[in-house]
Amino acid sequence: MLSFSKKIRLSNITLQDRVFSPYLHQAEIAQRTDSLAQALTEVYAQQFPLLLVVLKGAFRFAADLVARLDFPLEVEFIRLASYENSQSSGQIRTVLGLEDRLSLEDRPILIVEDIVDTGLTLDFLYAQLQARQAHQLATVSLLFKPDNFRGEHPPAYFGFSIPPAFVVGYGLDYQGQGRQLNDIFREKPSAEV
Ligand code: IMP
Ligand code: MG
Repeated sequence: MLSFSKKIRLSNITLQDRVFSPYLHQAEIAQRTDSLAQALTEVYAQQFPLLLVVLKGAFRFAADLVARLDFPLEVEFIRLASYENSQSSGQIRTVLGLEDRLSLEDRPILIVEDIVDTGLTLDFLYAQLQARQAHQLATVSLLFKPDNFRGEHPPAYFGFSIPPAFVVGYGLDYQGQGRQLNDIFREKPSAEV
């Protein structure tokens, strides 16, 4: 019997220089994922949607979500790369994984995200997809930080609305670490550490 994933972790964890405390337990995440899958089934069951999973953070949520979607769909994985342009002070991003053969027209597309924070990443992604004639777009995100949000495309579906603190686990990372944690942890304010 596999039992490692059932262990409840009650203690804080340290990643690099930061301390995180338990926040959302895997059982709560699974329960919310069930509800999201039900809502998505009602809307998309007859529509043969394309799920666009935004790597890396959404890999676990996406896997657990599609396991609960019992209707025809397709899954593709994309990645938003950022790099510093020496001629520009800002960051320019590009979408990797949208091969030209992938037809985005005339079908519902569901973006699968781990977290929507400011919403600027989604704004960029929507612009890229709309430029490729994708017009039936919606987003499902496990987490949403409404207090930080200043974008144009809020997620139509989300698992948890959370305050602005930084979170890790269940796919989300801090400097590349913490993705394998089965629960979600929240950064402790430095006064509490
Ligand atoms: P945005 O601010 O909505 O554009 O979010 C951009 C990206 O920042 C997200 O897709 C995540 O990769 C990352 N991010 C935002 N908040 C958190 C967090 O609390 N933990 C880990 N990553 C985060
Ligand atoms: Mg993300």
